[in-house]
Amino acid sequence: MQTARELDVLRTAVAAFRDAGETVALVPTMGALHEGHLTLVRAAKARADRVAVSIFVNPTQFGPNEDLAAYPRQLAEDSAMLEAEGVDLLWAPDAGEMYPEGFASAISVAGVSEGFCGASRPGHFDGVATVVGKLFNQVRPDVALFGEKDWQQLAVIRRMARDLDLMQPHADAILGVPTVREADGLAMSSRNRYLSSDQRAAAATLPRAMGEAIARIEAGEPARAALVALEEKLLAAGFGQVDYAGLADAASLEPIDAPGERPARLMVAARIGGTRLIDNMAVEPPRR
Ligand code: PAF
Repeated sequence: MQTARELDVLRTAVAAFRDAGETVALVPTMGALHEGHLTLVRAAKARADRVAVSIFVNPTQFGPNEDLAAYPRQLAEDSAMLEAEGVDLLWAPDAGEMYPEGFASAISVAGVSEGFCGASRPGHFDGVATVVGKLFNQVRPDVALFGEKDWQQLAVIRRMARDLDLMQPHADAILGVPTVREADGLAMSSRNRYLSSDQRAAAATLPRAMGEAIARIEAGEPARAALVALEEKLLAAGFGQVDYAGLADAASLEPIDAPGERPARLMVAARIGGTRLIDNMAVEPPRR
């Protein structure tokens, strides 16, 4: 595996793949890799001749009171994991390489970025869109893979790529990979390592309560009642705050009152101790 820490080294490595007529898949990450990331890498290997993984803890997607300083950084360990998976190229720039002196541009995606995490983390998706737009320009991949755990992020990136013609063809160049879960259902996340053992045990309430809410909605109960019960279960289990628990159109992320013809998603973000967990699951229309 080749590691590039400067843009010209990255470009030379990608050009060599291109000169050999090879396709390239990109898996953007912020490191602190876990099985969820490795699942993305394996899916990438099945879709392209060469796999590039980026590791960059992107400061512009963290708010002023968020965990940028504490975010786990373990480049040597991550690099060994990627090497063992047969990744071809690791792109690990530092902040100065990604955002050179005087950097003054941003990508902002309206609509799909505004609700849910966009409302509780102002500016977050501008930071994500800007860095992912840069990564696409830097690597120029044929396909890029993202975890469905960050469902809204995936929707924002799809919108951006389509609007700005960043990938060709639009329809299948951005691939969402289903969330990888721990045995008790908790979605894998680099932030799970912040949890104490008590918090970790309580965190499993999140996917469980979401599954229960979905079962109620799909059985025909009003979504509002099921969502209130979901919030109560989280607070009773030890979550300190529920940022949101709502239904959304799966593509536009418009809030909806009930699942209808179009695919719907239950979206939740909740805080336990100092850790903010997010999750989402598909919701089918009520069975008649
Ligand atoms: O999902 C992440 O790890 C990040 O938001 C991403 C897509 C790598 C952009 O920094």
